[in-house]
Amino acid sequence: MAGALPLGDPAPTDGRLGVSADPGTDFGVYLHVPFCRVRCGYCDFNTYTATELRGARQDQYADTLLHEIGLSRRVLEEAGPLRPARTVFFGGGTPTLLPAGDLARMLDGVRDAFSLALDAEITVEANPDTVTDAVVERLASAGVNRLSIGMQSSVPHVLAALDRSHSPENVSLAVAAAKRAGLDVSVDLIYGAPGESLDDWRHSLETALSLEPDHISAYALIIEEGTKLARQISRGEVAAPDDDLQADMYELADALLAGGGYEWYEVSNWSRGEAHRSRHNLSYWRGFDWWGYGPGAHSHVAGLRWWNVKHPAAYAQRLALGESPAAGRETPDADARALERVLLETRIREGMAISELPSAAARTAIAGLVADGLVDGSAAIRGRIVLTLRGRLLADAVVRSLTV
Ligand SMILES: C[S@@+](CC[C@H](N)C(=O)[O-])C[C@H]1O[C@@H](n2cnc3c(N)ncnc32)[C@H](O)[C@@H]1O
Ligand code: SF4
Repeated sequence: MAGALPLGDPAPTDGRLGVSADPGTDFGVYLHVPFCRVRCGYCDFNTYTATELRGARQDQYADTLLHEIGLSRRVLEEAGPLRPARTVFFGGGTPTLLPAGDLARMLDGVRDAFSLALDAEITVEANPDTVTDAVVERLASAGVNRLSIGMQSSVPHVLAALDRSHSPENVSLAVAAAKRAGLDVSVDLIYGAPGESLDDWRHSLETALSLEPDHISAYALIIEEGTKLARQISRGEVAAPDDDLQADMYELADALLAGGGYEWYEVSNWSRGEAHRSRHNLSYWRGFDWWGYGPGAHSHVAGLRWWNVKHPAAYAQRLALGESPAAGRETPDADARALERVLLETRIREGMAISELPSAAARTAIAGLVADGLVDGSAAIRGRIVLTLRGRLLADAVVRSLTV
């Protein structure tokens, strides 16, 4: 049930955007599926278990979301020529908790409203428990071409510390099923769980590599306020993640993944070559346009940002009344946009052009960052800020120096 939404300005009930979209900017689609069978102790995503639904109907969710797709088509038509979706991403929550046919209907809704680019990347996030041959075959026949599987770890006591419901075996079965169906495969890993040692982490990385996915994400465990794990830590029942150990874990991940043929392209993401990078996530980091459907989803078109009401019941109620589900909106000013660009673009392998830094003081800081081994010196000579391995470990500190 995630942290609070931003405040922002009120959003109009008809959903009108009042902006002109640039037909040359890529357009992507995010479809949020806010359901999970159980909540993992560390997770504060906007997702709900059966007892938290307050009357919202999982079996009606696809139809409700199709109403938002209809509304989006109407308001985007007013903002300029409609653009085909270049990427579609079903995220959650656990999209695969819905019948595959429901996901297919939502995808058809996007296709009918906007069309899909010929080479569109279409991803579904999945909990390993929910992946079967029948599910992935149905998804592939609907046009899905990528499955992102929440593996997290291959060590039973780490999976238990994270409250995960799946076993290590389920992950290899899910990966094999996805490959049989011809899907590109990504696995998500988390490092720094209570009780996880460097050797446990090495085991998870080696297992992930042995599955030969196309893409691997590795996230440092973040202790989110309000989660069960945060309460366990504050009561002293389990230890908080150790920064030094997490740094060692990141270095080990980069070394093993690079050795296995996976190239980093964003601080927490590695792929087998450029063709397997997540184009959807790159579109967020590069500031393209996207529409996020579903409760709590955020959208961005031509500099305007907005976000939907959080609870699935409130979301369904708004759409049943023919109203936009947007809860608030804002147009960040030039300063805020410049800061955000530093935050997002320095995370990716191509980095950011020094000429686009927001201030002279930030440009002056680069020499110090190069001397400290945080920013690549030869890239800086070519006019770009590219993080070194040490810089990726301390990305937040680099961003702070560049946003003065
Ligand atoms: C929506 S989930 C993926 C699909 C599915 N719900 C699952 O968990 O298997 C997205 C990913 O976010 C990551 N994540 C969630 N909460 C996190 C946290 N507190 N710290 C680090 N990573 C987190 C996990 O790696 C998770 O796989
Ligand atoms: S299954 Fe995924 S979205 Fe659901 S609670 Fe766990 S990490 Fe969060």
